[in-house]
Amino acid sequence: MTDTTAAAWKHLEALAQPTLVELFADENRVEAMSGRIEWRAEEGETGILFDWSKTHLSDDLLSGFEALAEASDFTGKRAALLSGAKINVTEGRAAEHTAQRGTGAEASVEEAEALQLRMQMLVEAIHEGALGQVNHLIHIGIGGSALGPALAVDALTRDLKLVDVHVVSNIDGVALEEAFAACDPATTMIAVASKTFTTIETMTNAESALKWLKDNGVSDPSGRVVALTASPEKAVEWGVDETRVLPFSESVGGRYSIWSSIGFPVALAVGWDEFSAMLAGARAVEEHFRDTDGRDNLCLRAAFADQYYTRLRGCQTRAVFAYDERLSLFPDYLQQLEMESNGKRVTSGGEPVDGPTAPITWGGVGTDAQHAVFQLLHQGTHLVPVDFIASIAPGDALDPAHHAILLTNCFAQGAALMAGGNMAKDGKDPARAFPGDRPSATILCDDLDAATLGALIAFHEHRTFANAVLMGINPFDQFGVELGKKMAKEIEAGEGDFDASTKALLEKSGLG
Ligand code: F6P
Repeated sequence: MTDTTAAAWKHLEALAQPTLVELFADENRVEAMSGRIEWRAEEGETGILFDWSKTHLSDDLLSGFEALAEASDFTGKRAALLSGAKINVTEGRAAEHTAQRGTGAEASVEEAEALQLRMQMLVEAIHEGALGQVNHLIHIGIGGSALGPALAVDALTRDLKLVDVHVVSNIDGVALEEAFAACDPATTMIAVASKTFTTIETMTNAESALKWLKDNGVSDPSGRVVALTASPEKAVEWGVDETRVLPFSESVGGRYSIWSSIGFPVALAVGWDEFSAMLAGARAVEEHFRDTDGRDNLCLRAAFADQYYTRLRGCQTRAVFAYDERLSLFPDYLQQLEMESNGKRVTSGGEPVDGPTAPITWGGVGTDAQHAVFQLLHQGTHLVPVDFIASIAPGDALDPAHHAILLTNCFAQGAALMAGGNMAKDGKDPARAFPGDRPSATILCDDLDAATLGALIAFHEHRTFANAVLMGINPFDQFGVELGKKMAKEIEAGEGDFDASTKALLEKSGLG
């Protein structure tokens, strides 16, 4: 931490912390603490409202965090990110996911456009039947090569499904068998999605999927395979024909790769126009993130709230509840984005961090979660900042009562967390007491279409980046996943000296 960031934190720590109810004495609070990101759609302006009024952010805190952002050189680091500079210092490369949506170094944007065109041509050729009848796609990948595609396919295919996509990530064969059971091998394609094209789970699943096609009478199984990768030469070596290898740049991180050819299953499922709309929604957020400063930058403001709760209020987790069935995979997606990016213990310069880094991201879908985990949110001893995400337009065509109940519950939960109270008739029973003053933010989409999904994902990418800048860490590496992988390899090779517990477990399982 530099002297200026230390001074900014010291100032923040000394600020008064009024309760939420006290903060609402300001009648302009909702307006002051809310903001919208908008873009043009066929039917006019559409967008997303971000309401932080039910968080403890105050004018003073926002000013204090603006000083921290300045001391952390947020503006310079944002410019570096968006210009394709090598900000992933530990791996000596840029983080160029934004180039996929048109912002970045000129050469990288051009490369991304060319690769996307190639992907579009393959997607459209498949839709037109150039590779025979394709009814199903088994998309095999893990982590960033699966979570984004799974989320987007699940969210966007309720009304439109050109190809039936199954995303398989787990090495547990049960996952692949489930996909096999749902697909007709004669009309199934396999997408092998792996940035490195070496990940053991993905490569093992891919071999088994090829075998399944072969065993089920498909004459040219490898002719049914598409590779989505930043290591195209490895895909060709593995046996995928070059014409069906869709590369993306090495500088696009796995958990930021949905915009690249890793988005192939999305485009195949819903068509190129919808995939383009997703990119356009992300671009709208990008422009806001690039062109807006201080508290008005909504990605940065979200990071101010995150830092406030993690560092100044000691919150170890943050929860995200989507009041929308179509976003039921959003918390899973966010877990990797936030925890793999910012779950670090050293700064970009390799110094130990002097405070907590990423909280544990968890969550679920409303209203289900209300009947399962909200007890803790309302009355438990942990303070958990909550994000509610909802859409004004319904995703269903049933009686409007469904959507009305969904939204009223979402808003009521935020109100109850904040206000607290006592449910006992005499208002005195401690077991029925709700302390209140529990924070929540509401992210309210006009509609949940492809553009909005793209905007939501890009918003969280930039929020994650802004948090990293405020903490002084590099969000773009993930060395923390390597040690366990190395040890698994050693066990497999019969090498390494393990502890007595691990040895006993291996022996009991017949693997020792
Ligand atoms: O092990 C973690 C990780 O490297 C993630 O960062 C990544 O998204 C995932 O594995 C999959 O990697 P790949 O796309 O190279 O198969």
